Amino acid sequence: MNPEKITADTIRAMKASGQKIAALTGYDFPTTRLLDEVGIPLILVGDSLGMVVLGYTDTTLVTMAEMEHHVRAAARAKPRALLAADLPYQSYQTVDEALKNARRLVAAGAEAVKAEGGRAIHEQVRAIVSAGIPFLGHLGMLPQSVREEGGYHIKGKVEAERQALFQDAQALVEAGAFGIVLELVTPPVAAELTRTIPIPTIGIGSGPDCDGQILVTPDLLGTFPWFTPKFVKPKLNAAEQMRTAIDAWKKSL
Ligand code: KIV
Repeated sequence: MNPEKITADTIRAMKASGQKIAALTGYDFPTTRLLDEVGIPLILVGDSLGMVVLGYTDTTLVTMAEMEHHVRAAARAKPRALLAADLPYQSYQTVDEALKNARRLVAAGAEAVKAEGGRAIHEQVRAIVSAGIPFLGHLGMLPQSVREEGGYHIKGKVEAERQALFQDAQALVEAGAFGIVLELVTPPVAAELTRTIPIPTIGIGSGPDCDGQILVTPDLLGTFPWFTPKFVKPKLNAAEQMRTAIDAWKKSL
């Protein structure tokens, strides 16, 4: 394994060399360390932690203080992977706020930040990138907009949505993003975007033809069994194994 630290440039270069980018979420020290030991090159302290760790109904309740707490824990694993972190809901409404909060996440240990949106936040992205902080975009279904949108809807089914995705992706490319997460984008549109834009696309529920894939780690491992998105095929039923082990211990007393 190449011992060199993975940077945003490494992730960008993986598109050019045709290497699939495997990305997963890590919200704490042990998970981040395990993901890194397996060689996952991009680890995201996602605001999905609000749902799968903190028990909130959606990600709009996650605060900057909570993100910083989890970024600090993940960063203590000192991963070789690039450690990115989400700017939480309403933490990047103005350029000044976006820059201040991106710097807070970096001070906590993040090496890149992610935020949701395209044209609407291109000035914020430009400012973050100009400050030397690598930026990962997020288009398609935007979980932080779930309340306005009344649910988690697939994007790209109609031509107006397809065009909006292309314009948003272009805005992120021009603002200097090093990659874009595509969440719940129809597979043909995700594939077309992947062929068209010069930076990596990292899909989640967007079909196989993205430059990489990202999953919420508890969905992959089955540690949050009360809800699993339809597009995830868990590789482990960890919750059931935990129940069995806990029960066996209780009965052994
Ligand atoms: O918050 C998160 O975990 C994410 C991934 C689903 C991409 O944004």
